[in-house]
Amino acid sequence: MAKQFDVVVIGGGPGGYIAAIRAAQLGMSVACVDAWQNAKGGPALGGTCTNVGCIPSKAMLQSSEHFEHVQHGLAEHGVEVKGVKLNLAQMLGRKDTVVKQNNDGIQYLFKKNKVTFLHGRASFVKADAGTYEIAVSAPSNESVIGKHIIIATGSNPRALPNVPFDEQLVLSNTGALEIDSVPKKLGVIGAGVIGLEMGSVWRRLGAEVTILEALPTFLGAVDESVAGEAHKLFTKQGLAIELGVKIGNIKVGKGVRVEYANASGAAQVLEVDKLIVSIGRVPNTDGLHPDAVGLKLDKRGFIAVDEHCKTNLPNVWAVGDVVRGPMLAHKAEEEGVAVAERIAGQHGHVNFDTVPWVIYTAPEIAWVGKTEQQLKAAGVAYKAGSFPFMANGRARALGDTSGLVKFLADAHTDEILGVHIVGPMASELISEAVVAMEFRASAEDIARICHAHPTLSEATKEAALAVDKRALNF
Ligand code: NAI
Repeated sequence: MAKQFDVVVIGGGPGGYIAAIRAAQLGMSVACVDAWQNAKGGPALGGTCTNVGCIPSKAMLQSSEHFEHVQHGLAEHGVEVKGVKLNLAQMLGRKDTVVKQNNDGIQYLFKKNKVTFLHGRASFVKADAGTYEIAVSAPSNESVIGKHIIIATGSNPRALPNVPFDEQLVLSNTGALEIDSVPKKLGVIGAGVIGLEMGSVWRRLGAEVTILEALPTFLGAVDESVAGEAHKLFTKQGLAIELGVKIGNIKVGKGVRVEYANASGAAQVLEVDKLIVSIGRVPNTDGLHPDAVGLKLDKRGFIAVDEHCKTNLPNVWAVGDVVRGPMLAHKAEEEGVAVAERIAGQHGHVNFDTVPWVIYTAPEIAWVGKTEQQLKAAGVAYKAGSFPFMANGRARALGDTSGLVKFLADAHTDEILGVHIVGPMASELISEAVVAMEFRASAEDIARICHAHPTLSEATKEAALAVDKRALNF
């Protein structure tokens, strides 16, 4: 007899494992099915984020930043270092250890919360009397029955037509984290989040990196002044970014030859040792068999859900990358918690207007809310205020004065509509803005809050003051 659970969660990434834990906290019996395998064939909970995304990329970003900093950033502090050498095997090994610590952490949390973990791929078998039967493939090889199903199957990297990922020469995010000797020339297609983060890692480690981007504007979704500043800084660091290109034939041989037309339409060729293709991701419903129960997908292959993450089937929910909205781990987590709470009869809620975005380059880029170009397009009357890190004492002491903080506030009510940061620790600084926006604070509220001195967060306060043209240190 198949075991029955109140909730069966399909997928153990940030959307799924967090939903499982929250449902268990709320007193439900919960199983979580996940297929990810580590190098030894064992389970590796945490999904793309933990295994081949957020976590390993941040480990590599940190390590490569140390490598660059020790060579070029310490002399001005009076620290002279000679004979710096890269031990790439150690760096990759450390990254793998960080991943494993996170995998093991989730398994521990499942045990602690009494979540039953099943290792294998889940497929819908049938719906029967208000429950759903789910088959789990090897190594688990069993079936379970769930009263509620939460689908959190994530996404897969999008390949260019006729150029499949081989993870040796044509790399997705997975292969981009595994390159075992620094390529002399590295090509990247797509100047989005992954392209910029992975391009930065390998440039710092010594590769000559060229990024080809189809759109004519750099980081079109980012506030124009922040994107412009970032473009300038990345170019200065040595990332060659070509905008407005049209990719043509790609030949994979000993290396990779990319034919493309540049922004003026002239034919160009880029010959590289390896090519990262980071042109977005597609929802993953591989092996799920949605047809077995009549689960609806939308035209783009996402599981169709309403604003509460409800699918077309009673008691079947979907969260994270496999549904509409930004493909961000923290968005998936919030949806997972909200769904578990709704199943328990509570009123879980996700505020999509205050989901922060971060690009972990150096300097980091982070933002929340509307960009200036969005406000203009919507005809919203707004006030803007900016403050450069150049004028921040802590940034000067750190030796990291690039970038700025920018506030956008409603012209009439002063409510904060967006905050945009490019600069040191932008990923941490953005939290203050998220909290402020959740509480519907005004720029004046932030301007009147005491911020510790000397901290980078004073730049946030000063940008809020600048909205009312009364920045003190600039
Ligand atoms: P992305 O959507 O961030 O960027 C893809 C870029 O490729 C875009 O600029 C697009 O215009 C360009 N592009 C598309 N087709 C192209 C073509 N044929 N030729 C040239 N350029 C082309 O996607 P990315 O970087 O692959 O990341 C995938 C997802 O993973 C994103 O949704 C992102 O949110 C998420 N992610 C988030 C991270 C973070 O929060 N720090 C880190 C890494 C990934």
